[in-house]
Amino acid sequence: MNKLTVQALQWTGNTLKVLDQRQLPDTCRYDEYSDAAGVAEAIATMRVRGAPAIGIAAAYGVVLSAYRYYPAGEDGWRQCVAADIEVLAKSRPTAVNLFSALDQMKAVLDQPNADPAALSACAEKIHADDIAANYKMGELGADLLAGAKGLLTHCNTGALATGGYGTALGVIRSAYKRQPLPIYADETRPWLQGARLTVWELAQDGIPATLIADSAAAWLMKSGRIDWVIVGADRIAVNGDSANKIGTYSLAVLARQHGVKFMVVAPTTTIDWAIDNGDEIAIEQRHQNELLPACYLSEGSLVSAWNPVFDVTPAALISAIVTERGVILNPSEQGMRQIQ
Ligand code: MRU
Repeated sequence: MNKLTVQALQWTGNTLKVLDQRQLPDTCRYDEYSDAAGVAEAIATMRVRGAPAIGIAAAYGVVLSAYRYYPAGEDGWRQCVAADIEVLAKSRPTAVNLFSALDQMKAVLDQPNADPAALSACAEKIHADDIAANYKMGELGADLLAGAKGLLTHCNTGALATGGYGTALGVIRSAYKRQPLPIYADETRPWLQGARLTVWELAQDGIPATLIADSAAAWLMKSGRIDWVIVGADRIAVNGDSANKIGTYSLAVLARQHGVKFMVVAPTTTIDWAIDNGDEIAIEQRHQNELLPACYLSEGSLVSAWNPVFDVTPAALISAIVTERGVILNPSEQGMRQIQ
């Protein structure tokens, strides 16, 4: 396995260090957390973000909770940790990885012999499994890109958004290792994950990237410079409908218009087997202050903002979903069930 250049999360054994992604690329600073409430706040305020990374952070948050309450008494500690799991579950609504990680931790907590060591082992396994899945998806996705002339990605799906290496950005890393090719990254308004995180992360690995304004994507496709759009996902329904960063749906529509292929890369922890289609995915709305220029923020202002931060791309617009268990071409429920 390659050395990971960027790490969103560092588990010290008794604290969680979180790279504050709000400060990047100007400042690379880790904050250290020793309780679950702090981790929940770090997720809600997007110090750590990206579907797999928030699941892993929440799992370590549960371990911190167990460290805090375990010595307190025989049964009481389990209830306190369960209450912290509820707090962590409320930190963000869309990425299902958060809930699947917390479900795994709860299952360990409910074992008769549960203790902090067992919870810690589970969190470390969730983290290690995610990194392994990313490397596997990197190879499977790169196989599809043989001969590609250029790629466009959206948001940040790299080491910063995962346990390490990345989902869509992992595929791009693996493809670039095989054959250098032009990589374009959308700014990804309003939070600028592409401009602040993706191009920075690629530069850490010595991979050149070209930043474009989100609104330049159609013209880029029209120019013939790219033949694939590659994105991650926050939640995938059983029929292949995929929720991802706002703007992903627009890219899929544009890609179809221009004959550009569209790849979604996500570990199976991102699949929500309980929902039939994308209509059932809760789309996070963030505060209008994240979007509005400061001059409109005063009370009584006539200007407000609508700020959904995810959208759902219908399966019909997706050429391939790449998971660590295999690739689903032209996704449908039947194809998805084959990797369940
Ligand atoms: O709001 P964010 O930055 O957490 O959104 C992240 C994304 O939408 C990513 O594309 C998605 O989580 C996949 S990351 C591997």
